[in-house]
Parts: sequence; C-alpha cells; structure tokens
Amino acid sequence: FSHHLRDTFNRKHDYLRISLTERCNLRCFYCMPSEGVELSPDGKLLANEEMLRLATLFVKSGVTKIRLTGGEPTVRKGIVDIVGSLNKLQRYGLKSIGMTSNGLALHRRLPLLVQNGLTHLNLSLDTLDPLKFELITRRRGHDAVLKALDVALSLPLASVKLNVVVIKNLNDSEVLDFIDMTKDKPFSVRFIEFMPFTGNKWDKKKMVKSSELLERIRVRHPNVQRASDELNDTARSWIIPGHEGSFGFISSMSDHFCASCNRLRLTADGQIKVCLFDANEVSLRDKLRTGASDDELLETIGRAVAGKKEKHAGMEDIDVRQCIIHAVYCTERNFW
Ligand code: GTP
Ligand code: 5AD
Ligand code: SF4
Repeated sequence: FSHHLRDTFNRKHDYLRISLTERCNLRCFYCMPSEGVELSPDGKLLANEEMLRLATLFVKSGVTKIRLTGGEPTVRKGIVDIVGSLNKLQRYGLKSIGMTSNGLALHRRLPLLVQNGLTHLNLSLDTLDPLKFELITRRRGHDAVLKALDVALSLPLASVKLNVVVIKNLNDSEVLDFIDMTKDKPFSVRFIEFMPFTGNKWDKKKMVKSSELLERIRVRHPNVQRASDELNDTARSWIIPGHEGSFGFISSMSDHFCASCNRLRLTADGQIKVCLFDANEVSLRDKLRTGASDDELLETIGRAVAGKKEKHAGMEDIDVRQCIIHAVYCTERNFW
C-alpha cells in the first residue's frame, strides 16, 4: 500500500469515488436548485482516457474499490465502456466497481453494465409514493426507479442498496413501508440523515435522527438485531429475522464516521477531494495536461491526502455553519 494514500491519522484510503459528470436528470430539492447547477465546460472535464490513467494510478497505489457517482453517472456518454475499461484494473488489485444512481435511466442499461464489470449498485429512492417522488425530485419517473430495482435484483450483483434520505414530515412515515419491501427482496435499505448543503434549506428540525427511527422500527419489529458491518461502512446495519433483506442507518450528522473514513474523491473535472465536507480541491487534470509523470501525479495526490482533516463539524458542533460553507462546493458542483 503506497504511503501516498495514508493520511496523518493513519487512515488508509482504498476507496475512490469517481464523479463522472456534474449533470443530473433529476432535481432533488435537497441537492439541486430547479434550474440545475452551473456546469463546467466540456473541455474542463476529464476525458475517458485521462480518468482511466488516474484510476490506474490510484489502483496501483492501493485502491481496491471504485464507486462511480455524479451528478447522475448514467448520463455520461460511454458509461458501459468506462465500466469495461475500469474492470481491466482487476489485474492491479481492483476488487469492486460500484455505482450510485438515481435509477431513472438505468433498467435497460443495467444488464450490460453488469456484464462489463459493475459489481455493486446503490439506488437513490426517497419515497414509495409517485406524487411525493415528483415533489422531491421535481421530475417524473418513480416507476422507472422501481423497475431498475427489480432488474438489479435479477442480476448477479454482489450487493444492491437503496438510499433513502429521511426528511421529517415528508417521508419519515414511510420507513416501515421500505422495511416491508425487504421482507421478500434481498437488498439493504439505508436511511440517511439529511445533510446540510448551502441552498438546500437544511434545518435541524427537518432531520430525523437515526436513533429516533430505530425506536419507531422497534415498536413494529421488537426482534430487530444489530448485524455486523463491513469495514469502513457508512451504515450501521440491522436485520429482522425472516427478512431476506436488511436495513441500516447512515448517521452522517448525529454520529459521523470520519475516524474510519477510507474515501477519496475524484471530481468530473479532475480534482482530488479528500473529504466531502472540505472545499479544498487539488487539480490533477492540470498536472496531467501539462505532462506530469505518474510520480509527479502521485506526489500531488500524496500532498492532498496528507492535508486531510480528522473529522467534519458534526451536528452538535458549535459551527455547523462551517460545514455548510465547506459543502457549498458539493452542491454547486453537484458532487457526491
Ligand atoms: P457503499 O460503498 O455501499 O458503502 O456506499 P456509500 O454509502 O459509501 O455511498 P453512497 O454513494 O451510496 O452514499 C450514501 C450516503 O452516504 C449519501 O448520503 C452520501 O452523501 C453519504 N456519504 C458517502 N460518502 C461519504 C463521506 O465520505 N462522508 C459523509 N459524511 N457522507 C458520505
Ligand atoms: N443529505 C443526505 N444525503 C444526500 N444525498 C443527496 N443529498 C443529500 C443530503 N443533503 C444522497 C442522495 C444519494 C446519495 C449519493 O446522496 O440521495 O443517494
Ligand atoms: Fe440528482 Fe442525486 Fe442530486 Fe437527486 S440527489 S438531483 S438524483 S444528483
């Protein structure tokens, strides 16, 4: 494992999230304004071969897990070929290729993506009510996402997860319905605490803490059991005996998981971002385009990783504002 990917808190970064595009075909109110976000000109985005060169460098340095994100990764042209070329990095130690998608344009493409090497799929779906879906995403397409889930479950994927961002008085009443879906379907539903990004009208009052949801779930399912988590997992998992699937909580705000963070991010325009809540980004694209060698690129990556902070400001911190300011970048550039 290369020392370049180890930070000053001795965290090993073996998970790379690659944003393939800033574009999205939905407009979830907590993520994007209705008019969309300002997009980088095409020339500033990494070309496929540039992205692949960087991904190769990361994998050779110890990254074993890649997740494709966006925006919405499926709106990137040539997504199937991108997955196919990343799949060749297995020979350098890559073990999994995941994708986080809103599922809107996925069901037809999914079989090919899996054939080309996609191993893990996380689908975002916040509600089981088509009208509420329109309210949240400002677009239609609820049925397409449910279809994508069914197609996903019919394919040989190593895991399928559903991401539900929980917002008080909007969809928190649906938690038990989501859990009911896992009775006969082998996927994991993860309830995510609403996180503050500038402009997304975050308010502590709109957040439902995971602990509160668990209490509600216990009333219906007194026999819930804590399950073991994968190393570096964002979620704390639970099972209900007799259910094929499971559920979990991503408590980014009330119980952040920074101490076990193993993630690095590569933005669509080629910057390395060491933390979701850190506005500092270091451009690898500019280095790459001015002819930097692999060693020079690695040195730049190493310097960025060495600057990674211990943790983000949590909900109880005096200055949640600090984290909001940092996160401006996430939403403005729509990056996960
Ligand atoms: P797995 O690889 O399946 O563990 O996926 P994941 O949970 O890391 O990623 P996914 O893209 O499905 O994101 C789920 C939720 O976790 C989203 O709300 C993300 O914003 C949040 N999340 C992902 N990575 C981080 C991170 O590094 N820090 C924080 N605070 N939240 C994150
Ligand atoms: N808080 C928590 N999760 C969010 N996501 C988008 N915005 C937020 C937010 N403000 C989720 C999406 C998707 C994942 C990549 O991040 O719903 O599932
Ligand atoms: Fe698109 Fe995901 Fe943002 Fe929704 S949360 S607008 S699906 S990037």
